Amino acid sequence: MIKRSVFILAFFSLSLLKAQNGPDIDSLIRVMTIEEKAGQMTQIDLGVIAKGDICALKQPQSIDDKKLISGIKTYHIGSVLNVGCGSGTIALDRWHDILRQLHQYNSDYSRLKIPVIYGIDAIHGVNYTKGATLFPQQIGQAATWNPKLVKQVYQVTAYETRASGLPWNFSPVLDLGRQPLWSRFFETFGEDVYLAKSMSQTAVQGLQGDGLNSPFSVAACMKHFLGYSMSLSGKDRTPVWMSDRELRAYFLPTFQTAIQQGAATVMINSGEINGTPVHVNHDILTKLLRDELHFKGVAVTDWEDVYKLVNVHHVAATKKEAVRLCILAGIDMSMTPNDFEFTTLLVELIKEGSIPMSRIDSSVRRILQLKKDLGLFKPFSISKSQYPDFGSKKHAEVSYQTATESITLLKNTKSVLPITKRSETILVCGPAANSMNLLNGAWTHTWQGTDSTYQTPDKLTIVEAFKKHTKNKILYAQGSGLDKLYDVDNCLRKAQEADKIVICLGEMPSTEIPGNIKDLDLPQAQIELVKKLKAVGKPIILVCTFNRPRIIHEIVPMADAVVYAYLPGDEGGRAIADIITGEVNPSGKLPFTYPAASNDIVHYDRKHSEDLDTDFSTNAYKPEFDFGFGLSYTTFEYSNLRVSKDTFSASDVLMVSVDVENTGKKEGMEVVQLYYQDLYASITPSVRQLCAYDKIYLKKGEKKTVSFAIKAEDLSFINKQLVRVTERGDFELYIQQLKHHVYYQ
Ligand code: BGC
Repeated sequence: MIKRSVFILAFFSLSLLKAQNGPDIDSLIRVMTIEEKAGQMTQIDLGVIAKGDICALKQPQSIDDKKLISGIKTYHIGSVLNVGCGSGTIALDRWHDILRQLHQYNSDYSRLKIPVIYGIDAIHGVNYTKGATLFPQQIGQAATWNPKLVKQVYQVTAYETRASGLPWNFSPVLDLGRQPLWSRFFETFGEDVYLAKSMSQTAVQGLQGDGLNSPFSVAACMKHFLGYSMSLSGKDRTPVWMSDRELRAYFLPTFQTAIQQGAATVMINSGEINGTPVHVNHDILTKLLRDELHFKGVAVTDWEDVYKLVNVHHVAATKKEAVRLCILAGIDMSMTPNDFEFTTLLVELIKEGSIPMSRIDSSVRRILQLKKDLGLFKPFSISKSQYPDFGSKKHAEVSYQTATESITLLKNTKSVLPITKRSETILVCGPAANSMNLLNGAWTHTWQGTDSTYQTPDKLTIVEAFKKHTKNKILYAQGSGLDKLYDVDNCLRKAQEADKIVICLGEMPSTEIPGNIKDLDLPQAQIELVKKLKAVGKPIILVCTFNRPRIIHEIVPMADAVVYAYLPGDEGGRAIADIITGEVNPSGKLPFTYPAASNDIVHYDRKHSEDLDTDFSTNAYKPEFDFGFGLSYTTFEYSNLRVSKDTFSASDVLMVSVDVENTGKKEGMEVVQLYYQDLYASITPSVRQLCAYDKIYLKKGEKKTVSFAIKAEDLSFINKQLVRVTERGDFELYIQQLKHHVYYQ
């Protein structure tokens, strides 16, 4: 009997090695032990198998042979993530060593040689690899309104992630950014369903390319399913109270789009919705995700979320019960990630029969399939020479282009910008004027992005870029910290000498719970700095590099120009300087509604009841800046909005066209935005909703026709029965000031 199973195993291993693309998954599952299956469902942090105490050392990043071998032999490690304690970038060579060792030991010491899958947070470029290209954060990517360009961002990210030897990226964030207080607002594609859907689609396409098997593609991970971004308090991982209709209307579509695009994996929302932690919500994780959306990929928990069911959410009294609940709800893999208790408990539960083997096998099947699709069953091999473009100028140009197309000019009184006279002296000041960290935000070299030790050499802060790229005389004084004035006298003295003053406002990089804030107001010190400089009497240009739209209502009237730069990444300094000096004509548009007051958060696709300018004026929609808004150094005129049919039905495609002319003195790019209003509907309709857009380039004096193909489903909503419908009736279509009435029959 023993001889026979040894023979089967030997035969199996042989055929495993021989198989070009990996083994037959079901045959493999049949020979796996319970322990091996539980191991596949476990993901640990690099810290668990690295030398020393990574968090204490702050210098992780080499494998401890004993820890790794014991992890493989005892727990059959299925997956590893990140860099240990979010503690710092790893050089390409070091990554290769780590991965070689991991794969080699796994092959030497594991019985079935099932490859380990390594996952990483490559959030705006592969930010945990030294010398990688760092892009604007997602909110800035959305502000480009240019999905083709954003696709390149994700292609480069995939390339450089794979160049590091890493096949799985925990990106993109598909949570809708409708809660500006939220510490992860900058990680979203903004507040609008349509814009975010288009960006989600492009991100997945860019990461996964033509197939996971390519050495230039990675598996995408849509996160965080579902409804994570909309907590009532705005604080990370605090309760969300939301109707199913709202969840489906606003927060589901990005995920739905990414699933249709073939996104390989999903990460689960750490928080709770209506009192149920999503990690134990069978309705969301199985009925919705699997049965309704037909998602076939791997569902991984977020960080330590199984244990948090006990110690944070209090829905399970023991960790064992927590494991049972989340696996039965539909989790495939647990980002445990600091120990193997999950693995041990899962084995016990399976042996006791508390979790049926069929449930375990479906998770293991998905995990093995992902590994097979990624080509991980093939012998691991990597070399730098395969990736000559890693961290290259070519890649930096994609980042620069994305930054320039994202930067949004929100105010420009009397055309104070661009500064074209090279004889003018410019004072560049403010807390963000000379900081790479503030340009990049969190997930930059470290988790919170506050450590300046790991910066990429030769990247320029805003003031450095002004000095290097302009012929103007540039003065610098910080003037203030983020929340404390200092150096202000020096700054005021230099302001006297300057012709124009560029004040760079910012926010400490942060994400997740460390990024929680109590209100949206910009810290008083920065307001004070602007007021003091305003008193000098020179033109004021505000540059904002914020994690979220901090309230600037008091200082906008003092400014002659406002340049909103989001978190523009490593090329942000250059992009900002080039926009201000007119090398580049700005074309970014806000992907969110910029609030004028901390407690006046109303989205552009508001309901009519939020829009009323009654006698009391209390409900009037008065944001600081509207969604979709952004100025240019040229002017565009819209005319001749026409629609192919005035009455349409379910089978029709409406062709909506408009002429756009560059009537100004510069070439430029314009985002043509098509909105609609459903005039009367069984669910209160929005005042307006985006349903199509296109970014076009126009030379001086050039005129183009832009056309959109619109179907009934583009004008749909989720009704009371939670079904997406387009109701018969009247609609208005809007492009800029033009509108056209159509009837759906
Ligand atoms: C975050 C995820 C991230 C994971 C791994 C969590 O705390 O919520 O977005 O992918 O950590 O670092």
